[in-house]
Amino acid sequence: MAKMWAGRTSGVTDSAADDFNSSIRFDCRLYREDIAGSMAHAAMLGAKSIITNEEADAIIDGLQGILDDLDRGDLEIDPKAEDIHMFVEQVLTERLGDVGRKLHTARSRNDQVALDLRLHLRHESDAVAEQVKGLIAAIVEVAERNKTAIMPGYTHLQRAQPILFSHHVLAYAMMLLRDLDRLSDCRKRVSVSPIGACALAGTTYDTDREFEAKLLGFDGVARNSIDAVSDRDFCVELLGALSLLMMHLSRFSEELILWTSWEFQFVTLSDAFTTGSSIMPQKKNSDMAELVRGKTGRVYGDLMATLTMLKGLPLAYDKDMQEDKEAVFDALDTVKMCLNVFTPMLQTMAVREDNMKKAAQGGFINATDLADYLVRKGLPFRSAYKVAGKLVSECIQTGCTLETLPLDTYRQYSTLIEDDVYAAIDLQTCVETRVSEGGTSPKSVEAQLAWVKEQIK
Ligand code: ARG
Repeated sequence: MAKMWAGRTSGVTDSAADDFNSSIRFDCRLYREDIAGSMAHAAMLGAKSIITNEEADAIIDGLQGILDDLDRGDLEIDPKAEDIHMFVEQVLTERLGDVGRKLHTARSRNDQVALDLRLHLRHESDAVAEQVKGLIAAIVEVAERNKTAIMPGYTHLQRAQPILFSHHVLAYAMMLLRDLDRLSDCRKRVSVSPIGACALAGTTYDTDREFEAKLLGFDGVARNSIDAVSDRDFCVELLGALSLLMMHLSRFSEELILWTSWEFQFVTLSDAFTTGSSIMPQKKNSDMAELVRGKTGRVYGDLMATLTMLKGLPLAYDKDMQEDKEAVFDALDTVKMCLNVFTPMLQTMAVREDNMKKAAQGGFINATDLADYLVRKGLPFRSAYKVAGKLVSECIQTGCTLETLPLDTYRQYSTLIEDDVYAAIDLQTCVETRVSEGGTSPKSVEAQLAWVKEQIK
């Protein structure tokens, strides 16, 4: 069948070219937005007397019928259609005849596709934001359920200082709050209406772009028609925000994978979120976390593909831009899928407070506290640091810990050290005394918890 745009050419295309050119297999997911956009457009055409009110009503009714049929599954999307815009207009024209042919007045697929995509991404990024909020709430829950658990904090993956487990997981809540912030900031630039820009130059009809933008819930209209149809910054921004979000999920996943290993055993994942091995009977693998980590690369790929697709494009619309959708849809699908398993995986995870404590007791993670103790006794920090370092070395040689090192030995290194040293380097003390804002003391962590809860209210 000849194309709707037949005229300048026969409109009869090679079937391989048709398949190559068509975007229906992925832009079919935009049908609701496409129909909503067309309804607003018809309403504007009627309000501005570009078509009659009767014609506008007939088009809107027709579109509503198509929407209902598609929702119910009574109308199937034609896989041979060029794209969703052509498909909807084709069906409308089949159903209404000539009136259907008036819908595309003062419009182009170039502003139409930008409109559909913006409407869709606004909705989808709101959905992702809701999921992120759910994950933050799950982190808060886990932190509250395990308030007293002490674990070793790491730098360079070497045991560094004792911290509260709740403090550690709340760090991820902070990252996710920034992700939420980025999504809502990006939303401001998504929620700008391109419709009315037409092909690129605007139109000779007396249209009302504000009217359409308002009907569709946009916060404003794009100020330059050429930019309106050329701009895909909002896709890149969203992909950037999603990439950062995945990077955070991936780091968290990596820690869960470490923590579930036999070497750490800090947490146990529910059987529902682990898998076994086909050969090794003893295995319990953290596949979900590994997949989240793995899929992060995929989302980065979508970002890179979109940036690269755009970098050499002359203004205004180029067909290359059709590639924006698969990338952004894939990233959204991936992120939503990851959040869908990550949150319940966290909610059902058991925290092994005993093992964390055991790990915290090794590795001299209270050495900083020993140095601070000496500072309180009057030694300058650099000198105190040296003494504490030598004491750790003494412990390593004699096979004991700072907690079990006899006072006599302590005093061989500094006579400032007294019996109260043991209380000062007790892990509980180390944690409780880190009262600086944002620190690991129960009081500071409580404040962080309250702040996070306030943010997601
Ligand atoms: N399917 C196209 C896309 O996704 C719609 C816009 C087509 N515009 C055009 N001038 N051929 O970008």
